[in-house]
Order: sequence, then C-alpha cells, then structure tokens
Amino acid sequence: MEQKEDNLKDIISHAKEYGFVFPSSEIYDGLSATYDYGQLGAELKNNIKSYWWKSMVQMHENIVGIDAAIFMHPKTWKASGHVDAFNDPLIDNKDSKKRYRADVLIEEHMEKYRNKINKDVAKGKKRFGDDFDVEQFLATNPNVLRNQAKIDDIEKRMRETLGENDLEGVYNLIMDLGIVCPISGSKNWTEVRQFNLMFSTELGSVAGDASTIYLRPETAQGIFVNYLNVQKTGRMKIPFGIAQIGKAFRNEIIARQFIFRMREFEQMEMQFFVRPGEEMKWYEYWKEHRINWHKKLGLGDENYRFHDHIKLAHYANAAADIEFNFPMGFKELEGIHSRTDFDLKSHEEHSGKKLQYFDPELNENYVPYVVETSIGLDRMFLAVLSSSYQMEDLGDGKQRAVLSLPPALAPYKAAVMPLTKKDGLPEKAREIMNTLKFDFNCVYDEKDSAGKRYRRQDAIGTPYCVMVDHQTLEDNTVTIRDRDTMEQERVAVDQLPQIIGDKVSMTHLLK
Ligand code: GAP
Repeated sequence: MEQKEDNLKDIISHAKEYGFVFPSSEIYDGLSATYDYGQLGAELKNNIKSYWWKSMVQMHENIVGIDAAIFMHPKTWKASGHVDAFNDPLIDNKDSKKRYRADVLIEEHMEKYRNKINKDVAKGKKRFGDDFDVEQFLATNPNVLRNQAKIDDIEKRMRETLGENDLEGVYNLIMDLGIVCPISGSKNWTEVRQFNLMFSTELGSVAGDASTIYLRPETAQGIFVNYLNVQKTGRMKIPFGIAQIGKAFRNEIIARQFIFRMREFEQMEMQFFVRPGEEMKWYEYWKEHRINWHKKLGLGDENYRFHDHIKLAHYANAAADIEFNFPMGFKELEGIHSRTDFDLKSHEEHSGKKLQYFDPELNENYVPYVVETSIGLDRMFLAVLSSSYQMEDLGDGKQRAVLSLPPALAPYKAAVMPLTKKDGLPEKAREIMNTLKFDFNCVYDEKDSAGKRYRRQDAIGTPYCVMVDHQTLEDNTVTIRDRDTMEQERVAVDQLPQIIGDKVSMTHLLK
C-alpha cells in the first residue's frame, strides 16, 4: 500500500511538472480539493471527452447530446430529492479532529478481510501452482470462511443501518468493529451526523430580491427537465438516451486523493429512457457496454471490477459501480443506475407539467423508466494517467519516465524535430509540421540533444517523434520513433499521415 501511495505522489508531481494538473490558485497556496488542468491536461481531458461523446452519441442513433445550464430552478433539487436526501453520514474523531464518512470507514474495515482472503488465495496459488483450485479453496478453507462470515455480517448490518438511516446503528457498528482513526489510532468518535453536500448561492443582486439556488450536484437533472423538449423536438422514440458532459459541485466532507474526489468536478452522464418493466434488461446492457468501453482502451482488464451497491441512492432500484485499480486501490470510477421513474414522476408533481411518453406500439401513455451511466471525467483522467505512468529501466543504471497513454488520447500525436538548428533542417521540419497539423495535434521541438527531446516526449506520452536530418533534404525521408518500443524507422514524408493516423485513430476503439 505504501508503495502505491508513493506512486500516487510521483504521479501528482509528474502531472504538475509537465503541465497536466496544477493545484488551483497555487500562488495563494491553493484551494483544497480544487485543481486546474494545464496545457497538456486540457488536451488529454478533451480527448477523453471526445472518446466518450463519440461512443455514446455518435455511435448510437437513438442517443443525442445536450448542454444544460449549471444553475437550475431551486424546485429542481426539491423534486430530485437532493435537498432532503443528498447527505453523507459523517463522524469526527475527537483526538485527531479529522472527519470521515462513516460508511467509508466501515467499507475500508471490510476491505481488510477481503485482503486477508486474497492473501490466502495467493499463498495457495504459490504453493500448489496449476493444481490449485480457487473455487474449492474459497468454499472450504476455514480461514477464508471465517473472514467471509465477518464480511457478510458487516454487509448485513450496513444494509440495515445505512438503508434505514439509522445513524445510531451506524455509530454502534463502528464501535463494535473497533474501528480506530487512521491518524490518532483512537476510538474517541463523535456521534454520526448527516451533512448535505450541495453548495448554495444567491440569485439576483438586489437585497431581499435574492433567492437561494444550488450549484448542480449532478448533471442528470438538466437532462430530466429537458426530457420532453428533446423527445418532442428530436422526435425520439423509446428507448432513447440523452447525454451530457458538464461540471458538477459537491461540498465533499473528505476531499483528498488528488483529482479523485473534488468539490468541483466534471461528469459525463447519459440517461436512457425505457419502457417500464424493461429497465433491468437495459441496466444489464449498459453495464456490459460501459465496461467494454473501458477495456478497449487497453489499460489492463484486471484493473476493472464491478461492485454492486449495498446502500441504494434514494432514486435507484439497482446500482453498480465500475471500480478501477487506482494507486489508492480499487475505487469507484463510474456508476450505472436503474433510476426507475423516480425523477420524471417527481418533476411532474413539483412542476405540474406532464412528462409522459405516448407509446404507439402499446397505444398508451406512461412515465418512462431511466437507466443512467455516470462517469467522472476527472476520475477517468486519473485512471488513464496513473495506469500509463511508469519509470522504465533502460539498463546501465539509466531510467526513463514514460506515459504509455492510449495513442488516441495522447495530447500530442507527434513531435517534429530537426536534428540540428542549422542547414535548413528547422525550415524543413516546420514544413512537415505545417502539413501534419491539420489532422494531428503536433509539437515542434528543436531545443537540446535528440536524446533529451525523446525523453521529454516519452514523459508526456507522445506516440511518435519525427526526426528531420540531412538525408531528409536529399530524399524526403525522416526517421519516426515509436514511444513504446523506442525503435526508429526510416519512412517517406508522404507516408507520415497514414502511419500516424493508423496509430492514433479512435476508430478502432469505437468499432
Ligand atoms: N447522476 C448520478 C450520479 O451523480 P454518483 O455516483 O454520485 O452518481 C457519478 O456520481 C460519478 O461522478 C462517480 O462515479 C464519480 O466518477 C464521479 N464523482 C462523484 N463525486 C465526485 C467527486 N467529488 N470528485 C470527482 N468525481 C466525482
């Protein structure tokens, strides 16, 4: 774990050093849990957005995208349940004065038993090799069974207490499990309290004329309130979806771990409107579709797992997370939720407007059910960055920092370099760059030795370096160096668009 945390520190400093992510307003010592994306971070972020948008909107005839306002009528949040129910159960340790989410403390405690089971399995595999039967071991080993029974018992009590909003029960569970504060090591806890996560502000400049409005805590409600606008103007037939990318704001109790949990972040959400009774079919469909979207990036299939929710949000009848193996361990990256007709029905009640669909096949009106997919763009950014970053041993005590980003997401697709700053090589390099830049985001680099320049591009994940040398002037060929293999090949300048295009195209990810 310590090694993983060190790894996160390295990633944070690499992200800053190369212009991916900066602490927000750093000259004033920063603002907690708020970050700015730098010149390369903005490019990487845009490419992730583009991969999501293309896959969800462009590749689905029955999904369209919108861009709703962050400010919404205050009644929206009463209807959505966020005013009354968007709370986290928090608990303070009186000795360290640190605040925690009670459910997270319990989940982390449970994770210790899961780790014990995983360790026992690893030991068995090491000892018995191919003869080791994991299923049988899990079903019969006394240590495993004892730890599994503990997990089951905690899960049951969590469901009972958190599900019923029984805060005293949550406190008792923490005490019974002997959970201690990771900082002070003590069990000196306060009671568990609920804390609303929405930021509020005032609309209107004249005193007395103001009304309280909220910064949206999810983008989904901008879609729900526009359901009928889009359905009618787009002549959409159920099942259909509405997608959106945008900022969301939450006053998180514990906002740490870099861009994993921020108070201002970005979501990429899609609400899929379906016939009542068909929601579980679509829920399974979207779970499968979304995990495939992730796996296609090639960050390692073993880095993903599903986690079914124990405590369902106030709107859901089924929910699962896609968890990713971040430097801090497996954590939520995306949620897939079956939201029933909760939101549309509630907006009907609060607005007095009908939000129904006339289904010509059934010849009836109904309020559609909704299955949503909701991914945090910043978490996706961290997943891509953390799994791509590595210090690679090159032998002879030499190392290189390399970001093996999926080429389709890399900020620059190629770096164009003249071998020297004279003999007309810079002019030729610029000429090549000026033809490539229409199709690919390229960078021109002539400073320092070729080796140093290659290292710089490796560190920011540029898939190709194109080197212009004296032979280029004679036969219009260049060397093209591959980031991952570090191999160089001599190719004709005319071939560059195709070679680079094949490597960085999103098409093969989308197919
Ligand atoms: N509309 C449903 C919804 O908002 P959620 O599980 O609360 O569901 C969806 O959030 C996704 O948004 C999460 O899976 C996560 O990736 C991202 N997210 C939530 N809170 C976040 C935060 N404080 N910082 C960064 N990303 C966050």
